[in-house]
Amino acid sequence: MNSIMKRFRRLRKNEAIRDLVSNIKITKDDIVIPYFVKEGKTEEIENMPGIFRYSIDNLLMEIEEVYNKGIKGIILFGVIDKNNEKFDFNGICEKAYSEDGIVQKAIRRIKKNFPEILIISDVCLCNWTENGHCGIVKRSKDGYFIDNDETLKILSKIAVSHAYSGVDFVAPSSMMDFQVKAIRESLDRENFTYVGIISYAIKYASNLYLPFRDAVYSHIQFGDRKTYQMDFRNYDECIIKAKQDIEEGADILMIKPSLPYLDIIYKIKKIYNYPLCAYNVSGEYLMIKDYVKRFGKEIEKDIVFEILFAIKRAGANFIITYHGKDILKWI
Ligand code: PBG
Ligand code: ZN
Repeated sequence: MNSIMKRFRRLRKNEAIRDLVSNIKITKDDIVIPYFVKEGKTEEIENMPGIFRYSIDNLLMEIEEVYNKGIKGIILFGVIDKNNEKFDFNGICEKAYSEDGIVQKAIRRIKKNFPEILIISDVCLCNWTENGHCGIVKRSKDGYFIDNDETLKILSKIAVSHAYSGVDFVAPSSMMDFQVKAIRESLDRENFTYVGIISYAIKYASNLYLPFRDAVYSHIQFGDRKTYQMDFRNYDECIIKAKQDIEEGADILMIKPSLPYLDIIYKIKKIYNYPLCAYNVSGEYLMIKDYVKRFGKEIEKDIVFEILFAIKRAGANFIITYHGKDILKWI
């Protein structure tokens, strides 16, 4: 090819030409909003400005608002206040799969009022265990371990209970091996063939989850999550992990967090061309909130879009983001 020396600035001359030559768009179809739901009163989450743990009634009001503005999907997290709520920590997390659990009730109320909205439910143990781990903790000679296959049974029960309430997709986030397979088999056994699985396929042991752990009281009391969440120094693992989750029955793969892992999103999309979701996590949200506190609210829209475009460019089909409600004001 001959030289292409040109004046690039001609295509940046004004808004109209910039709009015409742009080839990525962000629409309401790209956004899923996370919601925290609890018994009792609504309260703002300390390290997540503008994000609340909602009572079911207030949650319904929120959902009505965003649904009417065009949001098509939400993801639900159940919360129990481990410091205050009377709670029987029997190690098997009965509250997580009981028919009148907070998530099950919320799903039924939402479906009744907004049958069209897509409900995704998080399936994990950390919001329900006293110690905050994502699986069942057992004692061992030299301390403790997380019992993978015992945890699978509980995760399956939780997923099935959400399905009975009417959930559309379950999203297992506990990072136990074979969690997708176990849940798929349990759902199918109960004839929930059309309840899908969004797998937290590639979830790194990140330092960006701390505000979320405030939100659901899941700061762990001992150890860390490095034996089940992925090591970001192991660049090879994501390829085979995504493959296995697809084979186990995942309908959509999730990658999490987003911004430090755009290369992973790009790579996985290129290799598998499979539906991909990126979770723009709580720490990423808080960084932006603190940034705009210093440099002015008026830049918030531009910086949030800069991030959304980056995640889409990398290859995500949609994005779970706490900025969701603000984004609705801007598009
Ligand atoms: C754990 C879970 C985490 C998030 C969602 N589910 C991470 C963790 O505590 O390890 C993080 C979401 C966020 O930070 O926004 N099951
Ligand atoms: Zn968890």
